[in-house]
Amino acid sequence: MKVIVLDNAVEISKEAAEIIIKQVNKNRGSVIGFATGASPVETYKRIIESYEKGEVSLKHITTFNLDEYVGLSRENVNSYYYFMKDNLFGKTDVDFQKVNFLSGQAENIEEECARYSAKIRESGGIDIQILGIGTNGHIGFNEPGDNFADGPFAVKLTQSTIDANSKYFEAVGDKMPEYALTMGIGDIMRAKRIILIATGKSKAEAIKKLVEGEVTPSCPASILKLHGDVTVFVDKESASLLGDR
Ligand code: PGA
Repeated sequence: MKVIVLDNAVEISKEAAEIIIKQVNKNRGSVIGFATGASPVETYKRIIESYEKGEVSLKHITTFNLDEYVGLSRENVNSYYYFMKDNLFGKTDVDFQKVNFLSGQAENIEEECARYSAKIRESGGIDIQILGIGTNGHIGFNEPGDNFADGPFAVKLTQSTIDANSKYFEAVGDKMPEYALTMGIGDIMRAKRIILIATGKSKAEAIKKLVEGEVTPSCPASILKLHGDVTVFVDKESASLLGDR
């Protein structure tokens, strides 16, 4: 696992976007796993800028997002589908036919998870998976627990995740859902390359556990140490608890 400490989110975004753009320019049909949340937003802005300058086209990529809230439609401003449309896809030439999401409105959750798993497999697998990390060490919505899940599943969100994300729902007078669908740890670990982005003091504990702790489902991100190609981009604040390296 490569850990790269940079000054701030803008510096991180330059490097992270560069990796994705290079991948897409090498293979225009690349399969990219996207993440929502505040962490990758600067990186998405950079990709949009590059698209606008004609440096990259996302027209032929296939996308998979990590997770989605149960019960929210794609039109809901707090759905992750909406987030991706608003923060990246809708501002580039992404082909929405090639955009894949777990459906938060699926009637049969088991079938929906199996469908998503099969779709990832049929795509040939994810070339680059982008990740954030929760203050509790979650990746996607794989919350701390007793084991690592392999494929997609429905999860009851922990209080720490609800505390971190309910502000987005309160802003529009809604209550945050308590359940989400998420890719499993196995899905994430099968990605060929993984980029994790973390910024801010609130992530310092999680980053310390990820980088210096043991591999344990009580910090789901810690399993990334067993992957052969992970780059962790952290700013000075989120790296502040790391020992000398
Ligand atoms: P954030 O969320 O990027 O909004 O901090 C990351 C996560 O919860 O995985």
